[in-house]
Amino acid sequence: MSYNLLKGKRGIIFGALDHDSIAWKVAEKAHEEGAIFTLSNTPLALRFGEINELAEKTSSEVIMADATNVDELNTVISKSMEILGGKIDFILHSIGMSMNVRKGKKYDNLNYDFYHKTIDVSAMSFHKMLQVARKLDAISDWGSVVALTYVAAQRTLFRYNDMADAKAMLESIARSFGYIYGRDKKIRVNTISQSPTITTAGKGVKGIDNLIDFTERMSPLGNASAEECADYCVVMFSDLTKKVTMQNLYHDGGFSSMGMSWRAMKMYNKSIEQAVEEGFDFDD
Ligand SMILES: NC(=O)c1ccc[n+]([C@@H]2O[C@H](COP(=O)([O-])OP(=O)(O)OC[C@H]3O[C@@H](n4cnc5c(N)ncnc54)[C@H](O)[C@@H]3O)[C@@H](O)[C@H]2O)c1
Repeated sequence: MSYNLLKGKRGIIFGALDHDSIAWKVAEKAHEEGAIFTLSNTPLALRFGEINELAEKTSSEVIMADATNVDELNTVISKSMEILGGKIDFILHSIGMSMNVRKGKKYDNLNYDFYHKTIDVSAMSFHKMLQVARKLDAISDWGSVVALTYVAAQRTLFRYNDMADAKAMLESIARSFGYIYGRDKKIRVNTISQSPTITTAGKGVKGIDNLIDFTERMSPLGNASAEECADYCVVMFSDLTKKVTMQNLYHDGGFSSMGMSWRAMKMYNKSIEQAVEEGFDFDD
């Protein structure tokens, strides 16, 4: 159902790769809610992803950019204003990548070139985006910028690796830039902390299926889907959340406030019984 929440709004959506991408769902919902926007992703994503299909479906133009490259971000933001006919009302940063995760490099044996790249792609690109937009005076007063993050920024979840550090930095950038942009232009900057979700990036985290089962059992409302995340993004882009800024907003069915649930404990007890039967060495 559409509420016309984004009628007349112009946006830029970074990070739609394929049908599973959270940014893909955001683009579909933003279109349904009346927004016009451009889509941006890397040349590689354009070659291997399905973004042109999304562009057609949402009547948007695609502008290629590596989000770590300031000149290219400049082009995306300036061209978007030209194409859409005015300043931008909302931006989605839905970008993440770690070569250390991809290559199975553990946290106590990181490759530092990869680590640097993780931080640049997954966190610093957000600062670059905001700084370029501010220098171009590209965002309308009361505009809204959202980046997607994960609870591993606050709590250690094994295998999330150097992405946890990148997400902590991303959330900090939202607060630091949120102050400046809020003070000067009434522009909101927030992060949404999403449940684990099966996407190309999500699948990069080994054991995500088990993690999804665990968080589902732990969360009183269950895991949040990509579509539900898109709904939340739309609300954050709308005028209904004008005074929300500098926040890390959990969208995780309650997981982040839980210690242990009955459903997870039952599963844990069952695994212990099975492990004892199998002669599992608990000191391992
Ligand atoms: N999937 C999950 O479990 C989950 C949970 C919480 C948060 N998130 C976050 O949601 C966001 C979107 O991820 P997703 O799960 O939809 O996966 P996805 O793989 O569909 O999206 C990641 C996107 O990042 C883009 N990207 C990578 N390097 C880039 C670069 N240099 N410049 C521009 N774009 C680049 C990719 O092309 C891709 O479109 C990420 O920030 C991710 O960390 C995902």
